[in-house]
Amino acid sequence: MASAVLEQLSASSIFDLRGVVAVVTGGGSGIGLMISSTLVANGATVYIVGPQQDELDRLAKKYNQAAGQDSRRGKMYGIEGDIRLKSEAKRLAEEIEKREKYITVLFNNAGILEGSFTPPAEPTAASYIASHFDSVSQDQFNNVINTNAVGPYWLTFAFLPLLEKWKNSDDLATKKFVPQVIMTSSMNGWTKDSNTAGRSYPYMFSKSAIGHFTSSLAHELLPLGIRVNGIAPGYFVSQMSSPGMIDPETGASLSPPGTVHPFEVPTVPSGSNRDMGSLALFLVANWFVNGETVLIDGGTLLKHPSSY
Ligand SMILES: NC(=O)c1ccc[n+]([C@@H]2O[C@H](COP(=O)([O-])OP(=O)(O)OC[C@H]3O[C@@H](n4cnc5c(N)ncnc54)[C@H](OP(=O)(O)O)[C@@H]3O)[C@@H](O)[C@H]2O)c1
Repeated sequence: MASAVLEQLSASSIFDLRGVVAVVTGGGSGIGLMISSTLVANGATVYIVGPQQDELDRLAKKYNQAAGQDSRRGKMYGIEGDIRLKSEAKRLAEEIEKREKYITVLFNNAGILEGSFTPPAEPTAASYIASHFDSVSQDQFNNVINTNAVGPYWLTFAFLPLLEKWKNSDDLATKKFVPQVIMTSSMNGWTKDSNTAGRSYPYMFSKSAIGHFTSSLAHELLPLGIRVNGIAPGYFVSQMSSPGMIDPETGASLSPPGTVHPFEVPTVPSGSNRDMGSLALFLVANWFVNGETVLIDGGTLLKHPSSY
């Protein structure tokens, strides 16, 4: 009896994701790749969504070759799509429905950062207008909000039928996990210091929006038994946060030791794929967390003012 309990509670059993089908938008780089590679490492079938099919295919081939015949590993597939658009959300869900009976988890992770302001030269209204109004365009605002907040709205609803099918499936593996949508938000949904957000108000707006969407959608979907949670990263080296400083194939940081970031991160300079991967595993395997956005920022918001 006790040995069965120990077996059930071992990490190798809790985090055995064989049977899990995941969709990770932006899963081919940065934080998305940290998530998708961790899921594949632990047995899941993972669809990575991004703007370029050939790039996604190249990456999937590498990971599938590395997984080889090891039955503990999963599989990675790429599907090109523009996650900002309602029409694309529908097409992506239809495409995956042709290949899979269900999905277990949708990671709405893709995102962009645009519309940064340059700090005002002096404390005058004219200077603030030059930096915050004149240098930020309507298109930048629209693009960031559409990518980071509106796209996840369309995708979530487009994928509901596949998430519902997971819940109702009789497969043994499906009994182990509860269907879920996981948003990649940011500590910048809470920050009051725009320096932690690359000085982009469009970005901060979008991340506050996705944080609120996470908790209100979790409430909305209670009758469906589909959970909604979020990940709020602090600084992780990626193409977005530090162009050129990430290994595109492994997601590992190429920042030389001692690299100084534009804001203070108290614990370690940057989160790693192990940090992000272990949080993704926790959220997928756990049944009881719902409506929560988990801050993973190395203590950054302990240093910078925020509404967290
Ligand atoms: N890195 C950080 O420090 C940090 C901190 C907090 C939150 N985040 C969040 O983490 C998420 C991932 O960002 P990242 O840092 O890993 O940056 P990243 O490496 O640039 O990843 C963003 C991914 O989203 C994809 N993408 C962008 N627009 C898309 C669209 N319209 N359709 C489909 N895919 C699209 C990108 O594809 P392409 O590269 O091919 O364009 C890329 O794969 C974002 O939501 C970001 O806001 C990051």
